[in-house]
Amino acid sequence: MHYKENPTFPKDFLWGASSSAWQVEGAVAEDGRAPAIIDLNSKKKKPYADNSIATDHYHFYKEDVQLMKEAGFTSYRFSIAWPRIYPDNSGVPNQLGIDFYNNLIDELVNNGITPIVTLYHYDMPVWVDKEFNGWYDRGIIDAFDQYVRTCFKEFGDRVKYWLAINEQNMQIVYGDWLGVCKYPETWFKDKWKVNHIMNLCHSKAVIACHELVEGGKIGPVPGMVPFYPESANPEDQIAAMNAEELTEKIWNDFNANREYNGFIKRYWKEHDIDPDIRPGDMELVEQAEIDFFGINCYRSNVAKASPADSEYQEIGLNKSGEKGNFIYPNYPGIFEQTNNPFVETTDWDWEIDPVAMRYLLRYMEDHYHLPMVITENGYGAHETLGEDGKVHDEERIKFLKENIYQIGLAIEDGAKVFGYNPWSFTDLLSTGNGMAKRYGLVYINTTDEDLLDLKRIKKDSYYWYKEVIASNGAKV
Ligand code: BG6
Repeated sequence: MHYKENPTFPKDFLWGASSSAWQVEGAVAEDGRAPAIIDLNSKKKKPYADNSIATDHYHFYKEDVQLMKEAGFTSYRFSIAWPRIYPDNSGVPNQLGIDFYNNLIDELVNNGITPIVTLYHYDMPVWVDKEFNGWYDRGIIDAFDQYVRTCFKEFGDRVKYWLAINEQNMQIVYGDWLGVCKYPETWFKDKWKVNHIMNLCHSKAVIACHELVEGGKIGPVPGMVPFYPESANPEDQIAAMNAEELTEKIWNDFNANREYNGFIKRYWKEHDIDPDIRPGDMELVEQAEIDFFGINCYRSNVAKASPADSEYQEIGLNKSGEKGNFIYPNYPGIFEQTNNPFVETTDWDWEIDPVAMRYLLRYMEDHYHLPMVITENGYGAHETLGEDGKVHDEERIKFLKENIYQIGLAIEDGAKVFGYNPWSFTDLLSTGNGMAKRYGLVYINTTDEDLLDLKRIKKDSYYWYKEVIASNGAKV
């Protein structure tokens, strides 16, 4: 099929970028914010990813919004920190925390930037964790409901796009790494109970948003990593489908169709798993009709058939940033992950595959027929300031350029995509590699070892993206 050089983007397409509270805000003990589990979890990771200062966005937010405005942003995706809004179990929200987000939202809206807000991005208050054993106890459902209702009431007059729980699928798949799993030895079965409780939290958030926010729209935000089959062997195709199910599709099906799909029901039965679905749960879920999908996508994966008598292998993430340290998982009889000889990888062994973006947008359109907004997509790299005091990030420009092109093609294919918010606006703390893995359009002058002046320095990608936005994607 022949395509013109540059696909056309819709007139009101939202161009922006993305972040999350714990990865940028800092000020963890200021204005009444309580400790969050991520504060403790990030400290355990090596290299160090301490979030007590991060990029100090809490104090730099006005300057950051001015940089967004100068680049021509029409959207910004960020998250609210639950421990700023409810620092304790008193049921009384923290006005200073509410004030911070009111100021940030006003600053955005007054500068023509549409806020897209995530309610939960890994920063559970420690008091919630202690009281409800993280996501293991159903008591968290009411606590979460109280928190999200407060957000909708306080900010819903200006925030119309909401995302409930960031990458719930990845939090379950990588339970240990992302801090959700408390008992690794029983996680294989526990995860489905935990996931069901998260599903109920998500469902109540969807219902509350529609009840409290006039014109409010809300959706899930899955971490999407499409799986290709290794070969035309039909068994490899089934393996790729199994992999899709167990890493993303069962969550997307649940969110869109408001029921557990046949694959997961059979899986639970075969493995003697009880997800603890109680009377009334599915009636609640039924009422939670989502409006759109947020899409986080950085890469693709490959699966091949796995013999039932092969050896189980747990996934091993590359945490060092030196190529070749990723360990492919094997789930006997279900799928084995393998490498893709057709694509390059980043230093963290993430496949660089912009075509995956088009593939998955078409896949999501075909399965769910819902609008979509890209809420994350980006290139993580080791970066330092050059001798000229600048950052010449050609590889990031190439990555973003090719992804935007593929999004344009997907839109021409019929996918209803209404915005692009790459990860990330400024450099920020990576989940496990702190400032050693940078994604930003804007460089932050600090390192994991030395707190420098936190100066914001526009990278080459910032100037390039500004032109893309000015031309509504025509100059990609
Ligand atoms: C996404 C998360 O999965 O990936 C972000 O929502 C995260 O919080 C991003 O930072 C990139 O991952 P990492 O591990 O490189 O920081």
